[in-house]
Amino acid sequence: MRARILLDFARFKSHLPADIAAHSREHYRVDPTGWFAGRPVRLPFGKGAGQLSMTAKEVRADAEAGLGFVVLKTVIAQDAAGAATMAGWAIHESAMDVGPRVSRTGRTGWTVTWKGRGWDRPFDDYLALYREARAIGEAAGMPVAASVKYHLPPLGAAFQEPEYAYTTTRLAEIGGAGTILEKDFSPTLAADDRSDERDAILRWIAEVPALVKRQAPVTLGMKLMNALFDDDFQVEMLDAAARNPDVDFVTLFNRLWDPEQRVAYGGWDLSDRNLRVLDRHRALHGPVMARRAAMPGFTATGNIGSGRMMVEYGLRGATSGQIHTFFQLPRSAYAADEGSATARALHALLYHPEEGLLVWMVHLGETGDLQPRDGLLHFLDLGHGPARHPD
Ligand SMILES: Cc1cc2nc3c(=O)[nH]c(=O)nc-3n(C[C@H](O)[C@H](O)[C@H](O)COP(=O)(O)O)c2cc1C
Repeated sequence: MRARILLDFARFKSHLPADIAAHSREHYRVDPTGWFAGRPVRLPFGKGAGQLSMTAKEVRADAEAGLGFVVLKTVIAQDAAGAATMAGWAIHESAMDVGPRVSRTGRTGWTVTWKGRGWDRPFDDYLALYREARAIGEAAGMPVAASVKYHLPPLGAAFQEPEYAYTTTRLAEIGGAGTILEKDFSPTLAADDRSDERDAILRWIAEVPALVKRQAPVTLGMKLMNALFDDDFQVEMLDAAARNPDVDFVTLFNRLWDPEQRVAYGGWDLSDRNLRVLDRHRALHGPVMARRAAMPGFTATGNIGSGRMMVEYGLRGATSGQIHTFFQLPRSAYAADEGSATARALHALLYHPEEGLLVWMVHLGETGDLQPRDGLLHFLDLGHGPARHPD
């Protein structure tokens, strides 16, 4: 197996297999199928909302590389007249700085420093992107989700429902029955005084899903931020979202906030916190969305820079992962020497001989932590092993 992975790592530097999942089933007896927004995806790796999903060209490159799914950049909700209470989030900022960040435990990882926020072009341009991206995704069997930042009022104030209505119905006109919307509770909310209110956050989680669902029959995800509060609040927030019957999936957890530098950040601090909170949530409440008939679990996000980290989240119940930072490292950080950034990243995520998904799946099969089913080790079985039930 070691010889095989070394060989594949070397030969796939210039091109990935046309069907990565079929190759992995045949040669590694590993089924990498993931699950996102109520449907299976060919790989558990997807692209998180952000600066790398703003054009049809980027989505096409993702589809061609074989990525599992894409979440488009977050658009700010508006009403029919173009009024958007959250318009302050649509600021233009192009400079992004990708660099190292040392975690509290002393590990050096990557983070992206960027002071922008949401989609800063007209809503109609976003609709055009969504239409084209969906067509590309459909042809490739790669789900494409839209991401929206809806109005979030302070406690005691009303929600701007016309903004919910207009934005949701326009997106659903394009997406039809297959519309996937992810509601972004951005980490930069932490810069906003309103996020100091725990009760306000819990109210948003309680009320926003029904407000969206009332407008159109969409598949709705809640992307939860890392709030500025302690782990207990993070668990409470997750439990509230996961129990809400209008929430179809949860994406956990967006970047941390550095109050001194006034920027969001990632790296090892982010995955350390996310994994810790997920363990705590599981010990207290069991698997995330355990009672969902279709597929319990969640979509992970945060420092997924290796297949190994995807497996760490998978062991805690993740059925897929959303990546941003690892898709924008300097070229020299990838072993692959050809292809799009997505293809180069997938090469490492899957085939890296020490850190890749395949080598870790095979390893868990060898230790007996993962039992084969129908002769295959399934990524989606990771969260169901006995070791994963500390409660
Ligand atoms: C430059 C940048 C812009 C982002 N923009 C958005 C956004 O518009 N909406 C959103 O929900 N998340 C956004 N994110 C968060 C990412 O989708 C992702 O969840 C987060 O960065 C953690 O994953 P990572 O460690 O792989 O970067 C952004 C992240 C970065 C680095």
